[in-house]
Amino acid sequence: MENAEKLYIRGGHPLRGKVEISGAKNSAVALIPATILANSATVLDNLPAIRDVVMYKELLEELGCNVFLKGDQMTIHPENISPVPMPNGKIKSLRASYYLMGALLSRFGEAVIGLPGGCNLGPRPIDQHIKGFEALGARVENKYGAVYIKAEELVGAKIYLDVVSVGATINIMLAAVRAKGQTIIENAAKEPEIVDVATLLNAMGAQIKGAGTDMIKITGVSELHGCTHSIIPDRIEAGTYMIAAAATHGDVLVDNVIPKHLEPVTAKLKEMGVQVEEEDDALYISGGQQYKSVDLKTLPYPGFPTDLQQPFTTLLTKANGTSIVTDNIYQSRFKHVDELRRMGANIKVEGRSAVIDGRFPLHGTKVKASDLRAGAALVIAGLMTDGVTEISGVEHIDRGYEKLEEKLKALGAKTWRASTESHKYPSHHHPYERE
Ligand code: EPU
Repeated sequence: MENAEKLYIRGGHPLRGKVEISGAKNSAVALIPATILANSATVLDNLPAIRDVVMYKELLEELGCNVFLKGDQMTIHPENISPVPMPNGKIKSLRASYYLMGALLSRFGEAVIGLPGGCNLGPRPIDQHIKGFEALGARVENKYGAVYIKAEELVGAKIYLDVVSVGATINIMLAAVRAKGQTIIENAAKEPEIVDVATLLNAMGAQIKGAGTDMIKITGVSELHGCTHSIIPDRIEAGTYMIAAAATHGDVLVDNVIPKHLEPVTAKLKEMGVQVEEEDDALYISGGQQYKSVDLKTLPYPGFPTDLQQPFTTLLTKANGTSIVTDNIYQSRFKHVDELRRMGANIKVEGRSAVIDGRFPLHGTKVKASDLRAGAALVIAGLMTDGVTEISGVEHIDRGYEKLEEKLKALGAKTWRASTESHKYPSHHHPYERE
């Protein structure tokens, strides 16, 4: 899947200006499959222009939906959908394709879905999703790398999640909205993306209460209809720009956000000595000259998001002193650390923690993005150096960040892309020398 394109960044330019945040990736990839529960068309607004969205569109088309994507709006006509088995193929390259399990089970009582791929962050089991489907009355078999699910009838049940899981909470909600009677999900995840999915399902006629708390109650309904829904802003994209603004000692207005969703990030930035001012739907970040080291632990929402752990680790290479970052969600989300070390950082990884010694400035070199947020961490690292950084593995970044270079350039960053070919045969200058 690796492509030959590379992203280049000439660092040392503070980010200044305003950046508009797009719709949330992790909402979009749950809302798109949720729309197949309706018996008429749904319009999703404020979709991010990212590869995961395009891949999901193609998956729905394989199932027989008519899908129209225009700008940031997608219209999904699910009238001709059928439960086509999808044990292999595209389904495996998109982790969030697992939402088709809950959605197809709910609509047809059956689903065959290849086990999901996505970013490699250590083991990512889906046992809690399966436990939920079984509690609702489905039989689930795992054969040849695919999950086979079938139910004569889905009946509401009480489900306690052993692990707080975003995916399992949403998948069980999808499976339960048309089940007979009441489902209660206990120890549910509370992420804003879950509230977004519940808002869409309720607008489609579902009866879901408590989304955003750790107990969600769903009363099954027999039919759902299409509606129009606007996706919430991407708190992880917003956090990435907040961290980038601080990392370059810039001044950036991060616009179109829900500031409450970013509280854990705002709090950590302030603790380091970064100025953050809150407006109704924007955050203004003004970097200081000196930053204090801080310790950070990722936790389910409203704790500090694991998806911003990697970018924040990069920022902490700037702090005076030693910081400890612990990822409580994933066992091995530290692949960016090897690359940061190549750039000159002094970071030790011990188990689930990274110990960052802030006295070592970063230098531009060739690095590789191993996953989406590692990519974001390396982009920020590139912006911090005084040289040129070459980032490969750009396809990971394109999965989740809309118009990254365009947005960065508008803030004054020097960044460009070049393919390996143009790298080999530069017309006038080597990509390393371009502005
Ligand atoms: N887990 C289990 N069993 C399960 C499900 C999860 O043990 O059945 C464990 C996982 O291994 C992990 C923890 O529970 O250690 C949390 O996983 P969760 O299910 O919440 O993660 P997810 O739903 O697969 C979503 C986001 C991730 C984000 C996590 C945590 C989507 C499509 N993905 O994944 O986003 O890191 O929640 O907040 O919503 C990203 O955007 O870069 C990304 C990886």
